[in-house]
Amino acid sequence: MRTLDSNLEEKRAAGEAAADLVRDGMVIGLGTGSTVAWTIRRIGEMVDWDEDEGIDILGVPTSYQAQELAISCGVPLTTLEQHPVLDLAIDGADQIDRNLVAIKGGGGAHAREKVVSYSARWFVIVADASKRAEVLDRPVPLEVLPIAASLVERLVKKMGGVPKIRQAKMKDGPVITDNGNLVVDVDFGIIEDPRGLASELSALPGVLEHGIFDNVDQLVLGPGKVIDRR
Ligand code: A5P
Repeated sequence: MRTLDSNLEEKRAAGEAAADLVRDGMVIGLGTGSTVAWTIRRIGEMVDWDEDEGIDILGVPTSYQAQELAISCGVPLTTLEQHPVLDLAIDGADQIDRNLVAIKGGGGAHAREKVVSYSARWFVIVADASKRAEVLDRPVPLEVLPIAASLVERLVKKMGGVPKIRQAKMKDGPVITDNGNLVVDVDFGIIEDPRGLASELSALPGVLEHGIFDNVDQLVLGPGKVIDRR
């Protein structure tokens, strides 16, 4: 049986392995979550502290969490306004299928993560083996304008989903995203056609972004454990 500790070790191995893709001069999207946190820490060790050693890179964070971690690790930051095209984006996932279609948003950061990943020439997911699935079946997070919450709940029920507004753990009431919106997790059971579902969700009024990502170029599970998109 997979233990929590082995998951933690796999997360660290995957996260640190992806830092090997970073090259001097790159501008990099920095994802959110516990796996890519290891990538950010490793990049922090690689950056140029004394101008003689190390590499010069800039990071674009996908969340407040990624921003704070990058700052604490000494990773210099920039914005998409200043650098609209990124060389690389690295991020975690909640589940990823055999075609490298992923579900993200377990940390409520998927709207910014999607913008950052689509701004990158190469998008890499870092994950432990427990995230892999033949077919996606996790609830799909939606970032929803607060005014649209009831409407979106009604519309996704008509699509066969079971919606749940995500509740905060250390605060009474709902999770509020970095963009000031709600997260609605929608359970669709087994998702046979994630691309079709993604199109339907994109068309819903009031849904700022859904957590289905169909733009993953590469999955890194650890050193030498790399799967490219076919
Ligand atoms: C953030 O909203 C998510 O998309 C994360 O990237 C995802 O939840 C990562 O999970 P781990 O903490 O397991 O890396």
